[in-house]
Amino acid sequence: MSSAPWKPILKSLISENIKNMKTITPLLPMQLSTFDTLTCRPTNRSVIFRGFLGERKDENYKNELMEYLNSISPDANLKELNPEIETDLLVITTDIRSSKVKHLLENPGFESCWWFPVTSDQFRLSGNAYVFSSPTNSIIAHFPSDMLLSFYSSANSTSLIEHFDWEQERKKYWYGISSDLRASFLKLPSGQETNEGLVRELDPIGKNIEEKLLVNEALENFALVLMKVDYVDHLNLTPIPKRITWKFQKNDDGLNKEEWITKNFTY
Ligand SMILES: Cc1cc2nc3c(=O)[nH]c(=O)nc-3n(C[C@H](O)[C@H](O)[C@H](O)COP(=O)(O)O)c2cc1C
Repeated sequence: MSSAPWKPILKSLISENIKNMKTITPLLPMQLSTFDTLTCRPTNRSVIFRGFLGERKDENYKNELMEYLNSISPDANLKELNPEIETDLLVITTDIRSSKVKHLLENPGFESCWWFPVTSDQFRLSGNAYVFSSPTNSIIAHFPSDMLLSFYSSANSTSLIEHFDWEQERKKYWYGISSDLRASFLKLPSGQETNEGLVRELDPIGKNIEEKLLVNEALENFALVLMKVDYVDHLNLTPIPKRITWKFQKNDDGLNKEEWITKNFTY
């Protein structure tokens, strides 16, 4: 399937804004809303976009990843990484203890909103989002693996479905996050409410037996959220406000095929 029409625009906005931001560590968090079925209210928070599933990585990084994956499960003797067929699925990482996970399990609907200050663009995306947790957690049963992969499959990517290893993806993102973020996935000892005196940094593998135990504990809480977008609204404020939307819907040729329908607005 060809790539979504809004994706190249979003990617170029991200790179242009990051390149021109004047801060030392440019951060472009997006806001993610989920629906709380208990309070019947939307809940919003900042999250970091980690890329599109299947994005191409440079060769050195791939070798590094392979080495890491083989070092955590030497029996696997992995020779190849998951196929690099870039999908339209956005990836974020999260902690299974957070409210958003509970919300998404009850109602996968989400809306996210991104403000790009350098170029004066707002990007809103909505659709359904799914949590890929540790395989030992019961919530894994809700993860619609085949649906997510088949949706993006095309004639030449059957191998994507047959050989795709989601756990390998989870470990790849675990390897890619910072050591202080990794440590935040550890449990607090019972009764303790602050993280005073706790582990501040965590190696992806664990340099000794004690640290390996901590890594296993933290990995139990570490999850990916895969965002399947079906509606996008892009507003550019300069020089004259311009708005464009894309909706993934059945076309009217009677073939029941879904495609992106674009609409332009003059406000
Ligand atoms: C700049 C920034 C980036 C953040 N990135 C993430 C993220 O990528 N994933 C995440 O789960 N929480 C992230 N957080 C924390 C969330 O905003 C939120 O506080 C936390 O996930 C708990 O939210 P919830 O219980 O409503 O799910 C970030 C916070 C800030 C301020």
